[in-house]
Amino acid sequence: HSRRADALVIFGITGDLAAKMTFRALYRLEEHDRLRCPVYGVGRQDWSNEELVRRARAALDQGGLPVDEAVFDRLARRLHYHGGDLADPATYRRLAEELQGRTTPVFYLEVPPSLFATVVQGLHQAGLTEGARVVVEKPFGHDLASARALAAELHRYLDERQLLRIDHFLGKEPVLDLQYLRFANAVFEPLWNRSHVAAVQLTLAEDFGVEGRGGFYDLVGALRDVVQNHLLQVLALVAMEPPVGAGPDAVQDKKLEVFRAMPPAEPARAVRGQYQGYRDVEGVAKDSTTETFVALRLAVDNWRWSGVPFLIRAGKKMTMRCTEVRVIFRRPPRLAFLDEPARPEPSQVVVRIDPDPGVRLVLLAKGHDRGVRRVHLDLSFAEQLGVPPEPYERLLHDALEGDASLFSRQDLVEETWRIVQPLLDSPPPLEPYEPGSMGPRGADELVRGLPPWHEPWLEPTSGGAG
Ligand code: BG6
Repeated sequence: HSRRADALVIFGITGDLAAKMTFRALYRLEEHDRLRCPVYGVGRQDWSNEELVRRARAALDQGGLPVDEAVFDRLARRLHYHGGDLADPATYRRLAEELQGRTTPVFYLEVPPSLFATVVQGLHQAGLTEGARVVVEKPFGHDLASARALAAELHRYLDERQLLRIDHFLGKEPVLDLQYLRFANAVFEPLWNRSHVAAVQLTLAEDFGVEGRGGFYDLVGALRDVVQNHLLQVLALVAMEPPVGAGPDAVQDKKLEVFRAMPPAEPARAVRGQYQGYRDVEGVAKDSTTETFVALRLAVDNWRWSGVPFLIRAGKKMTMRCTEVRVIFRRPPRLAFLDEPARPEPSQVVVRIDPDPGVRLVLLAKGHDRGVRRVHLDLSFAEQLGVPPEPYERLLHDALEGDASLFSRQDLVEETWRIVQPLLDSPPPLEPYEPGSMGPRGADELVRGLPPWHEPWLEPTSGGAG
């Protein structure tokens, strides 16, 4: 399945994700001459090709992307609209006629997971699955059992190699950079283990709520929305052993080993919070117990990490928007010879994923008066490496090329559900928190005796502040 796609078919082209992300990604691919195949948008609406093109244009303008007319014209000539009911076999028969002669189509399912099986069955019955790849969007189940059931449905018509599961975090440049930082620099790897690391903290803080998607979010909550998928994937990249060889499975296999070494989450080591005012959001139940904040203490019980706490916190309506990984090293002994009365603070490596990706080393240096002072060395990826492709652009490109490395494999998906399942079965009590705070007090209790949560790295990397 590694032959290049000769058609891209997007189910759900009339939806929200398409307007927000997909047209933009298509435009950027065209800009870099990486699309190179016709694009069929499937939807239930009665649109014409012209209408599809108009919507694409509107989406780009709304996203604030400066549009080069020549590039947009090339993109527009590739776009075809294909209207039809997803439950009707005729929709797929007509699609098959349009795709005649194409042997390696990519079908991108931007539809609710409850429709995945319907679409894949329709494609299969129209003889369209052979040689095809199918891209799906999360959620991949809402717990371990439903994740398995969903995979079983898809595997009736597709083998695992044909399935590309998008986790957009895996397309973020700084997330990819974790492997490069760790393994291309001999200065980090020798310290990246239990002998030198005191704790690892992952923070995904968002300063906005769930307005506009209350109905979706209330059925999901923070744990399922961003921890089971995005943050556990990031954790695996922080903790994994160096991959062996190349190929799409090299990294996945090492991530799988990390997950296998992780005991199931313990409800006593987890905190759930809900911001005040959440229940007034449209679509949210008046007595909702869905968490908008979650903090957990996890472990990776293997030779490298045994005993090192992996702390995760994620929440809506927090003080700031910031996603970061923070590796906190052990504290050195007291520095009597440097006139430092207490044991100094530990050094840290911070990888900021959003916004303004970069790396910060938190170090200690001589203060002018007495003892040590905390200082930092900051790297801005954008400043030194330029602006990277956006996640959806990269992932769609890889789907077209047939490179599965950055998509999530079913065995990994199941392991991550296994890890969080106890929290779904016995959810810890819900604690309210104030909008604009860093979550409920319980989150601080969780790290008692451990390095405390650090204030996320907020200063921009470029433009001076440092
Ligand atoms: C999505 C979640 O998967 O990830 C959202 O559904 C969340 O709730 C988002 O806001 C975070 O991703 P990013 O890339 O916007 O930081």
